[in-house]
This record gives sequence, C-alpha cells and structure tokens, in this order.
Amino acid sequence: MPSVAVEGVTKRFDGRTVLDAIDLPIESGQIVAIMGSSGGGKTTLLKCISGLIVPEEGKIEVDGIDVLANPEEARQHMGMVFQSAALFDFLSVRDNVLFGVRRRRALSIKEAETLTAELLERVGLVEAADRLPSELSGGMKKRVGIARAFALKPRVILYDEPTTGLDPVTAYTIDQLIVELRRDLGVTSLVVSHDVSSVFRVADRVAFLDKGKLVFDGAPDKFRESDHPAIRELIDRAEAKSL
Ligand SMILES: Nc1ncnc2c1ncn2[C@@H]1O[C@H](COP(=O)(O)OP(=O)(O)O)[C@@H](O)[C@H]1O
Ligand SMILES: [Mg+2]
Repeated sequence: MPSVAVEGVTKRFDGRTVLDAIDLPIESGQIVAIMGSSGGGKTTLLKCISGLIVPEEGKIEVDGIDVLANPEEARQHMGMVFQSAALFDFLSVRDNVLFGVRRRRALSIKEAETLTAELLERVGLVEAADRLPSELSGGMKKRVGIARAFALKPRVILYDEPTTGLDPVTAYTIDQLIVELRRDLGVTSLVVSHDVSSVFRVADRVAFLDKGKLVFDGAPDKFRESDHPAIRELIDRAEAKSL
C-alpha cells in the first residue's frame, strides 16, 4: 500500500482544468519533489492531498485513509508547511510552537511543553526559543513552521516551496533538515520546489507538472536527461547559472 495514493485527480477552477487526471502513488518514506511552471497546479495538488480543496474527479488516500471521504481523519496523519509561516508576532518561538501543538493535540500543558521542547530540538531552534518572530531570519521562521507541522507526528509531510525567498546557504540548511527528518522519522515527504539544485539534493523522485498534466515522474538523473521542452529549459538554465 502506498503512503500517498493520488489517482486520476482532476481539479477545475471556473471551468479551467488546473489538474488533469494526475496519478501519483508514493511509497512510504520517499521524498518526492513536485516541480513545474508557476501556476502549473503544484499548490493545488498539495491542497487536494491535504483535503483543503476537493477535486472534481479522482481518489486520494493517505496512509490508507480516503481523504475525500474523511479529510479530518486524514489530516491527523499529515503535516503541512505553507509558504508563509503565519506566526503570532507577540508570541515567542516556543509559544508559537506550543500554540500549534495545543491546537492540534489534546495534551496536558506539561505534555504539550515536553513535545514542544522535542520539536524545537528537532528543528534546531533551542537557542532561539525565547525570541520573537521579528527577531528571526527567514530560515528560522521556516523552522518554526516545520516544527508546528510535526506536532501530530505525521506519517506524511507536505512542504510548499520551503526554500523560496531564502538565500542559498539558508536554503541548503533547510534542505538538510528535510532530509534529516525523513531519515530520523521515516516521514513521506512531498516538496514543491522550483529550485533545481535543491531538488537534486533532497529528492528520490521528481514529478513535473506542465499545464496541469504530469509530464514527468521518475528518478532525478532521468529528470536531468528529459527532453520535455519545459524541463529542458529549466535544467539548462540551472546548469548555465552554476557554471
Ligand atoms: N481558489 C482558486 N480559485 C480559482 N483559481 C485558482 C485557485 N487556486 C489556484 N487557482 C489557479 O489555479 C492555477 C494553479 O495554481 P497553483 O496551484 O497555485 O499553481 P502553482 O503552485 O504551481 O504556482 C493558477 O492558474 C491559479 O490562478
Ligand atoms: Mg504554488
């Protein structure tokens, strides 16, 4: 049984097809990069998987749970890291994470504090726990979002452009964190990205969406050699930049 099963998913907005019969079965513990042009449907696909958007057609299962029939239950098995971390300005890093933990889990304050300390350790924020969001770098804010997403000990984690807007060195540290979390927790990870070098660092597999269609699904080295025009352009541009 795959950890995430996307079958024939079609999503339309105002009659426009944004996802066109997408099939994406994902094995447990895999890191899959989802790439594609801007407006290609990447965020929409993550939102369908997380049950926030309901597709017109298709089937989605997470950990064997039918997301369309039981979105609440399925969400207990998933964590989501959105592009903006949406932190409370007036709460410290620790309290932002604690708030996320208590909102998602019915724990005593003591248990919630213990879990919060574990999560801060896991994402490398112990030192910054007393800071306010205004005192954090972009990379640290991202880590707070990741800590909160792990509050439910999810089997599946969805990252929407986790390194966008970060400088290359910080982006690298977030990539490393994504790899570590998979290694230590075995979490199945879907990572939307448009950063080719980041994808080659983290992904076991690449899925490329072009105009709502899945035009490539395979290993990173096959992706590098693909002759699909949109993929070729992306790879050639990235290689020219790194020369
Ligand atoms: N809630 C919505 N209502 C109408 N159109 C939407 C909505 N969400 C996304 N879209 C459209 O769907 C397309 C895919 O969007 P999105 O999934 O955000 O793309 P990506 O994340 O790949 O940049 C875009 O053309 C976008 O404008
Ligand atoms: Mg997007």
